[in-house]
Amino acid sequence: MKVDNRRKVRGLAGALASLAAVVFLVSCCASGASSGGKPAGQAKGAWSDASLPAESRAAELLKKMTLDEKIGQMTQADRQFLKSYADIARLHLGSLLSGGGSGPDENTAEAWADMYDEFQGYALKTRLGIPLVYGVDAVHGHNNVRGATIFPHNIGLGAANDPDLVERIARATAVEVAATGIDWNFAPCLTVPQDIRWGRTYEGYSENPEIVSVLGSAAVRGYQGTDLAARDTILATIKHFVADGGTFGGKDRGDAKISEEELRSIHLHPYFAAIGAGAGSLMPSFSSWNGVRMHAHGELLTGVLRGEMGFAGFTISDWAALDELGGTPEHRIALGINSGVDMVMVPEHYESFITTLKKLVKDGAVSEARVDEAVLRILTAKFKLGLFESPLAEREFLDRVGSPEHRAVAREAVRKSAVLLKNDGILPFKKENLKAILVTGPLADNLGAQCGGWTISWQGGNGPVTEGTTVLAALRAALPESVAIYDSLKAAEKAGAKIDVAVVVVGERPYAEWQGDTQNPALPPAHSELIETLSGQGLPVVTVLFSGRPLLAEREIAMSSAFLAAWLPGTEGAGLADLLLGDAKPTGKLSFSWPKTLAGIGAEGKKNEKPLFELGYGLSW
Ligand code: GLC
Repeated sequence: MKVDNRRKVRGLAGALASLAAVVFLVSCCASGASSGGKPAGQAKGAWSDASLPAESRAAELLKKMTLDEKIGQMTQADRQFLKSYADIARLHLGSLLSGGGSGPDENTAEAWADMYDEFQGYALKTRLGIPLVYGVDAVHGHNNVRGATIFPHNIGLGAANDPDLVERIARATAVEVAATGIDWNFAPCLTVPQDIRWGRTYEGYSENPEIVSVLGSAAVRGYQGTDLAARDTILATIKHFVADGGTFGGKDRGDAKISEEELRSIHLHPYFAAIGAGAGSLMPSFSSWNGVRMHAHGELLTGVLRGEMGFAGFTISDWAALDELGGTPEHRIALGINSGVDMVMVPEHYESFITTLKKLVKDGAVSEARVDEAVLRILTAKFKLGLFESPLAEREFLDRVGSPEHRAVAREAVRKSAVLLKNDGILPFKKENLKAILVTGPLADNLGAQCGGWTISWQGGNGPVTEGTTVLAALRAALPESVAIYDSLKAAEKAGAKIDVAVVVVGERPYAEWQGDTQNPALPPAHSELIETLSGQGLPVVTVLFSGRPLLAEREIAMSSAFLAAWLPGTEGAGLADLLLGDAKPTGKLSFSWPKTLAGIGAEGKKNEKPLFELGYGLSW
């Protein structure tokens, strides 16, 4: 993230702006004025009365808005592309986001809260003082923020299959997100991945739509709570509508060549419960259904979503997704908005988007009635969120970010999400019998790989990317001093140690979106060779696998005495030590069928070959 000097000057101006905002708000409260702005004598009208329903406040406010102000509300920019923070006020921007890894240079929760309040200060200075709604992908904890609790990715939570746990994770995430000011989470993902070659398989709870339905709606409840205006609740986004996980060959942003019956029974199914749980926003998918892009699919994005499913929230396009609709900017913006996109995640060329949309309205290509419909939905969400009454960061929660209580929930989730695929009796270890163990493998001490994509940066990274506990560190902490722990065979041989058991941690590199698409979901050769070498020397090998999907690992499983699929567990590796040492029993069950060979992968593949392990498989003791 480059920071130029102008940014620093802006920062100072921004800090003054947010200070002004705080003073402004305090003065209103001090004068006993109704919330949201001027002293009671100059009340801004019915819309500033917090006792009125959000819908009517929004309708009142809409009447006062100019076309520029309305179009600004439909525009979302990524903070990293702001040419000047003053653009927030000048262009009446309604929303900002932090895309994966887009955050303050000093990556601390407090710096995020300062950044958020600085931006909000600009929005509150506008004529109507309409607060920003700020979005982020907190898909497994507040994962952009260093020091935040990182929970298992959804594929692991699907194996745990515990809706109460999912709700508690979402609740904890909402508190950590709210502490930094942010009010809106682009989660939960309701994808129902049908082909594990897809790079976003791990963002799905399961290939089974009912598991996704139950857990996705639990996540919505956790994020939004029972009162969206509460200081520790945030707006959920159900995504990516629809059939993002049903594309041909598992290609990211590809085409779901499926029947309407399959679209409804598999991919649409989870949205009914999530909408029933009150999800306040929805994100269309980049992908297509039988050749029609979802961001241009008026029949589904308006007809079905609004008419049949009764969704009353607002829709937010995916990252620059309208650019992929083809044709001129005028054509694709009109197409997206007329198909049902309410707010556009531009996210870079926000001024030209605004100019183009204004021209489209003037030319009648987008009606002002359509603009009003979109803006009414957006403003209603902002009123429901209580943004007009408390637009700044909820700093009282800053000490909850990465707190021991949240990490304990994450550790419980790690225990419950791991699936034991094989055990010849080597597990659980009997601590009293252990003298020397080997804890090795490329991912044994690699927190970044343990967390996977969408962690600190968009793609994630290797090594100590944030604060957490690797498997090696967890075993070192849990085993008595009397047990010698070697992190490589060479070290063990050099010490002339007699190794009782080898824990080998292997798996996939971190990735996100299309960068995770693969035609060969298998272990890297070096990882496989390590298992072979150690087992070939007669050592009992316990393989722990970090992966965003089932992998073709029949041979590695055969060479292991025990094999634990840990998915992408996040920062609390101690949850795995709990299982290895018998302090907890494995209860995880596969939420995806585990293919035997490439021939058994994907919707077609599953018809040709029996999986190695069926959905629902998982051992214990
Ligand atoms: C990405 C993803 C979407 C995410 C958005 C904002 O491309 O498709 O899931 O919410 O952009 O980061």
